[in-house]
Amino acid sequence: MREDFIQSLNEELGADVLFGADIPARFRNDWAGLEPVTPLALVRPRTTEQISATLRLCDRFKISVVPQGGLTGLAGGARPIEGGVALSLDRMNGIDEIDPVMATMTVQAGTPLGVIQRAAEEAGLFFGLDLGASDSCVIGGNLSTNAGGNRVIRFGMAREHVLGLEVVLPDGTIVRSLNKMLKNNAGYDLKQLFIGSEGTLGIITRAVLRLQAKPAALASALCGCSGFPAMLELLKSARLRMGSALIAFEVMWPSFYDFMTGNLPELRRALSEPHGIYVLIEAGGRDADENRTMLEHILSDALEEGWVSDAVLSSSEREARELWAVRDSVSEYGRLMGPQTAFDVGLPTSVAGSVVSEIEAAMKNRWPDAIALSYGHIGDSNLHFVCNIPSLGNSQPHKEITELVFTAVGRAGGTISAEHGIGLLKKPYLKLSRTPEELALMERIKRAIDPNNILNTGKVLTI
Ligand code: FAD
Ligand code: LAC
Ligand code: ZN
Repeated sequence: MREDFIQSLNEELGADVLFGADIPARFRNDWAGLEPVTPLALVRPRTTEQISATLRLCDRFKISVVPQGGLTGLAGGARPIEGGVALSLDRMNGIDEIDPVMATMTVQAGTPLGVIQRAAEEAGLFFGLDLGASDSCVIGGNLSTNAGGNRVIRFGMAREHVLGLEVVLPDGTIVRSLNKMLKNNAGYDLKQLFIGSEGTLGIITRAVLRLQAKPAALASALCGCSGFPAMLELLKSARLRMGSALIAFEVMWPSFYDFMTGNLPELRRALSEPHGIYVLIEAGGRDADENRTMLEHILSDALEEGWVSDAVLSSSEREARELWAVRDSVSEYGRLMGPQTAFDVGLPTSVAGSVVSEIEAAMKNRWPDAIALSYGHIGDSNLHFVCNIPSLGNSQPHKEITELVFTAVGRAGGTISAEHGIGLLKKPYLKLSRTPEELALMERIKRAIDPNNILNTGKVLTI
């Protein structure tokens, strides 16, 4: 039967399929740090029709299929399954159309996020999704994980940037729903089923994206605050006074800021003294001078109130990039720390400070040499922890660390995943953040759309 499948796949896909040892290493894993897996086959289709043919075949032979985008996912969702097919969208790469009247861009699912951002700007518009992995991740992966990033406080998560989708269902059915209209209440909003479902319900092949007015040159400020309560006052003030010009509000605890600046010689500490907490604010209104003046006023009032102890404001794009360099150095963890246990939890903002103190102290108490770095998108109630115990080398106690962190998050009324998704890594813990009724409904939806359970089998849900 396996031989029949291989023969049929070869007949359907021909030059666009590779088997076993011929599959390049980069398709055998994502960024989650699990062991690589060599799938039975790698398919790299060029058209939606080829994806449909592949799924029809896999459904008939009950072979699992793992959709792959840029493979930067941090939950193991794109890691291949042994004996299954890895289906890469990397050849479905290109912009079909930019519609300046509707302010939309229609793209193929394998188009890198960075390419979309630049194309929008060349057209005098703006795409509001932005992540550290922008040049490596692709839009299909962003939508399937409902990615967040640094500008959610202004533009929302990936879900909010989508007006229409083209999707292939597990039985090969192509659902074309490439709506461009901002308002369309004709029945269920089907695209929402596929956004954030991590490739378990359908393969996204195209998307209609919503573009924004291009902000005037962005201005950034790095602020040092005495601690979490002072930073919350700054957040409230920035939100109220900047309104839609507040593009990003990113926070770094000293654990993160000191570790990164201490270990990466190319990073410069822009403030002369150490502080209790660091904040990056980005302003993006309709006028470049206004951006700067607005930030200047907010910061000088915050200095007077004692919410900010020191601050530096960028006066050019190069300076802004320098201020962001510490926050943007997260792709260096692997090199600096070795194997990590990493988190993307969500927490009610006001308790995030005490949860960070509790977790950092508990980590040090349990493993005195623990490195536990805290930072995140605090304007969106989303905290990142990245942990490593140097003395334990490659035998990191992932399970024990995870239970320590999720217990604290659960007590504080948070969620185990605010942005990276569940994939494989967080699957055993999904029940901590969802009720039995919610989980049962997810399983009913999965069974209805994918009765043979071929699509990303064993990811997210335990069926
Ligand atoms: P992949 O890793 O290839 O896939 C992710 C999931 O989507 C998998 O489950 C896969 O099966 C599924 N999938 C992929 N393509 C499709 C498709 N066409 N149809 C159906 N399912 C599909 N994430 C954030 O949210 N915010 C951040 O700020 C952020 N910063 C990051 C910084 C760095 C340095 C790195 C390495 C990662 C970061 N991430 C962040 C995580 C990651 O970049 C995002 O999850 C991203 O959206 C994944 O896109 P991808 O194309 O790499 O998807
Ligand atoms: C970040 C990624 C890891 O915000 O989500 O750095
Ligand atoms: Zn993040």
